[in-house]
Amino acid sequence: MTGFRGQVTLDGPSGTGKSTVARGVAARLGAAYLDTGAMYRAATVAVLDAGVDPEDAAAVARTVAAARIEVGTEAGTEVVLVDGVDIAVRIRGAEVTRTVSAVSAVPAVRRQLVDQQRELVAAADAVVVEGRDIGTVVLPDATLKVYLTAAPEVRAQRRAGQLGITDAAEIAALAADLRRRDEYDSSRADSPLRPAADSVVVDSTDLDQQGVIERIVELAAVGAGERT
Ligand code: DC
Repeated sequence: MTGFRGQVTLDGPSGTGKSTVARGVAARLGAAYLDTGAMYRAATVAVLDAGVDPEDAAAVARTVAAARIEVGTEAGTEVVLVDGVDIAVRIRGAEVTRTVSAVSAVPAVRRQLVDQQRELVAAADAVVVEGRDIGTVVLPDATLKVYLTAAPEVRAQRRAGQLGITDAAEIAALAADLRRRDEYDSSRADSPLRPAADSVVVDSTDLDQQGVIERIVELAAVGAGERT
């Protein structure tokens, strides 16, 4: 489908296949794509490299304010830079994944990155934006808001498949880690993870990723029809 104009927000917990779905939807709509999680991960790299305690909110805020964070907005490529250094691979590593919840809970960090996200969105006619608070906080007037969810066990299975893990105890540990991160992201004071009141909740427990992409493209098409 082409001709879509506006913003699709895609929020939800980790392990729902959100990134693959968001990129797929952007490609189908001919839209730009913004991965806001990559921006919080990039901020986390800056904090780790500065040797700052991630629980020291003031030091984290200062460090991130001084860092130049750049992300690309094309669905087909992943561009993530901190102070000009390519960190696209590093942001997916265990150290960043362990630390990112603490960094993303700091209000000053959120304000800075939300401002940057809104600027990037304003520069695109059509965009799919993926994150946790996009429909609730970043783009409250978005064209279409989707909240993607799935049972933690299914999310852990998918993550295990990506990592090549088959051991039942390790998969259980992944499920426990997902629950811990959900709990942290949903209970933080600033911009907790929750569906926007006007979002469409899509449960991917029993849908494959292609099915989820089709469903969202259909929703975007209906919305576009309503506006014309
Ligand atoms: O989607 P992800 O796993 O790459 O996100 C990394 C972390 O960043 C995750 O712990 C939640 C946080 N995050 C956030 O707080 N707000 C967003 N809009 C996107 C991500």
